[in-house]
Amino acid sequence: MPGVVERYRDRLPFAPGDPVVSLNEGSTPLVHAAHVSGLVGAEVWLKLEGANPTGSFKDRGMTCAVSAAVREGATAIICASTGNTAASAAAYAARAGLTGAVIVPAGKIATGKLAQALMHGARVIALRGNFDQALTLVRALTDRHPIALVNSVNAFRLEGQKTAAFELVEELSELDALCVPVGNAGNITAYWKGFREVRAAPRLLGFQAEGAAPLVHGAPVAHPETVASAIRIGNPARWEEAMEAMTASRGEIRAVSDEEILAAYRLLASREGVFCEPASAASVAGLLRYGPGGARRVACVLTGHGLKDPQTALDHAGAVVPCVPELDAVEEAVLGGTGAGPPEPA
Ligand code: F0G
Repeated sequence: MPGVVERYRDRLPFAPGDPVVSLNEGSTPLVHAAHVSGLVGAEVWLKLEGANPTGSFKDRGMTCAVSAAVREGATAIICASTGNTAASAAAYAARAGLTGAVIVPAGKIATGKLAQALMHGARVIALRGNFDQALTLVRALTDRHPIALVNSVNAFRLEGQKTAAFELVEELSELDALCVPVGNAGNITAYWKGFREVRAAPRLLGFQAEGAAPLVHGAPVAHPETVASAIRIGNPARWEEAMEAMTASRGEIRAVSDEEILAAYRLLASREGVFCEPASAASVAGLLRYGPGGARRVACVLTGHGLKDPQTALDHAGAVVPCVPELDAVEEAVLGGTGAGPPEPA
C-alpha cells in the first residue's frame, strides 16, 4: 500500500508534485479481539498502529510534517519526545536527508526507541527533566532558530494522524466508540478531526495513566509518573482540543492505574496474540475497567509495538526455563509442570 499522503492526498494539504517523504506508513491491521469482546460484552477491534514502519502511529503524522518541512526548504527538524515521536522523526529525517535532533527525558524512554533514534543518526539530547519541560524548551529554541518543530503542535502532524480514522471507517462501516490512550492529546484530537471529515461520530473514550492524568483532574500534573513512559505527560499541548473532541463526541477522559495497564498489556499478549507497549494497553485497560458504555462495536487503538520496550516486558513476563543439552532434561523442561505428561505410545 502507498503511504498516507498518496492514499489520502485529496483530504490532506499536499498538491500533486509536492515532495513526499514516506515509508509507506498507515494501512495498519485491524483485528478482532475475541477474548476482550467476551469480557466486555461488545464487539471489540484492535487497530495495530505498532505495525507502522517505525513501530508506532507517529509515522502517519511524521510523513506529513517532514514532507511539509522539505517543501518549505527546512534543513533541520526537532522534537521533544517520550520516545516514539523521536524514533519516527529520526527515521523520516534520515530518509529526507535532514538533520534531526530529539530531546527526551533522561532515563525515561524505552530502550527500543532510544536505539531507533540513535541508529537513524539523530542528535539525541537526554534532558534532566520531563517531557513537558522538553516541549517548552524546543518551542523556545525553534523561535530562535530556523529548525522545523515536528511535535503534534505542528498542524501537519494531526493532518497525517487523522488518516487512522479514515481507515477505521472504511473497514468498520459503523463504529460506536473509540478507545485511545492520551498523553500530549494530539492523537485523540486528530481522530476526531478525521471522523468529522467522513461524517462519523463514535464516542471518544480517552484514557490517561492515574499518575499522569491532567485532563481527568482538570489541572496540570507537575511530576507525572507511570509505567507507561510514552504517556508520562503532565501538561498536554492539545488540552483544549482534546476536551472539545471529548465533549462533542459525548465521550469521556478517564484514568487507569498502572496495575490495570499492565494487566491489559499481559492479557493482549497472552490471549489475543498482540504485543503492544504499555501506553497502548491503556486503551484496553480503560475499556475493561469502565465497560463499553452501551457501545455495540468498539475499536481500541494500540498505538505502539511491544518490542519498543523489552525491559518492561521482561519485568512482567514469566521466566525462561534453563536446560542442559540432554534429551531427558529437555523432556523435563518442555513437559514438566505443564501437566502434559509424556506422549501416548502410538
Ligand atoms: N501511545 C504511545 C505509544 C505514544 O507514544 C503516545 C505519545 C501516546 C500513546 C499518546 O499520544 O501524545 O497524541 O496523546 N507519545 C509522544 C512521543 C508524546 O513523544 O512519542 P498523544
